[in-house]
Amino acid sequence: MKLAVLTSGGDAPGMNAGIRAVTRTAIFNKIDIYGIKNGYKGLIEGDLIKLEASSVGDTIQKGGTILGTARSEEFKTEEGLKKAINVLNVYGIDGVVVLGGDGSFKGAKKLAENGIHTIGIPCTIDNDLGYTDFTIGFWTALETVTSAIGNLRDTSSSHGRAVVIEVMGRDCGDLALYSALAGGGESIIIPEREYDIDKIAKKAREGLMRGKKHNLIIVAEGAGNVFKIAKEFEEKTHIETKVTVLGHVQRGGSPCAQDRIMASTMGMRAVELLMAGNTDFALGMCNGKLIEMKFEEALNMPKKLDYQILDTVNVLSV
Ligand code: ADP
Ligand code: F6P
Repeated sequence: MKLAVLTSGGDAPGMNAGIRAVTRTAIFNKIDIYGIKNGYKGLIEGDLIKLEASSVGDTIQKGGTILGTARSEEFKTEEGLKKAINVLNVYGIDGVVVLGGDGSFKGAKKLAENGIHTIGIPCTIDNDLGYTDFTIGFWTALETVTSAIGNLRDTSSSHGRAVVIEVMGRDCGDLALYSALAGGGESIIIPEREYDIDKIAKKAREGLMRGKKHNLIIVAEGAGNVFKIAKEFEEKTHIETKVTVLGHVQRGGSPCAQDRIMASTMGMRAVELLMAGNTDFALGMCNGKLIEMKFEEALNMPKKLDYQILDTVNVLSV
């Protein structure tokens, strides 16, 4: 048997732990394992390398992806898909493990529909997949954001300023929501809910009157323009307001234990599923248990906002 593994879309801390687990599980079971460089782009180009146990040595703690990642428009076309399938056939690959987010899973589903046995491992800092409680990379990014919020709180308190902090997440507010709870943010603005700048300003003024020195407004990137929000807030409160866009710093760094554990567990499970002749499954975590679900179902599961966390943020940031 021959298997292959690729990473696709935005990189996420923990991808290397996943590649390592897939590789080592395959080798443990005497299966040949190939790494496909740069996601579907590398697959189309036939950029494959044979992996050995040592190829993934000293990688469990590393951020990014040792295989490289890419976004490939060509793979979305019929012709691109055909080229990719042809490469897999030429190499005699029996199954592929795809590590990525929802876009990558749409590609994985197409491979599965075309007879390539394919399993997906959810890797994205956005935590925007509805079928799994958490995605690999989210917890590490959350640590990075929480740490940055702590730094901004220091300087915000010292100067009596407000700061509007933009965090990643595409259309999902989870990084903003969880970091507001972990970092003690005053207000959050997320795509899942309308925001009212008057309410945010009123809360800030009340805090100021009680002697609050800082004001942290955490904005998910998909929820609005941080510079516009900061301007409106400043006009309404007369509190000097700075903007910090955290950007790609959130994507890097050594994965935390939880992301490594999820990636390792899912990597091993993916190979076991392929060995048993399974295909077309996305792996996930529900209530602390490893689950598998057909790509179609997984991709159609709506992502829900955790209202309990939202309520907690609102109560604690009074
Ligand atoms: P992520 O996997 O992090 O969500 P993207 O949305 O950029 O990242 O998707 C990664 C890659 O997956 C795309 O560049 C493309 O090659 C592939 N992909 C995305 N959507 C589709 C689709 N509908 N059909 C086939 N391939 C897709
Ligand atoms: O999907 C992960 C993510 O970091 C999003 O949070 C963000 O919107 C996007 O990728 C940024 O993409 P790029 O790295 O291509 O700028």
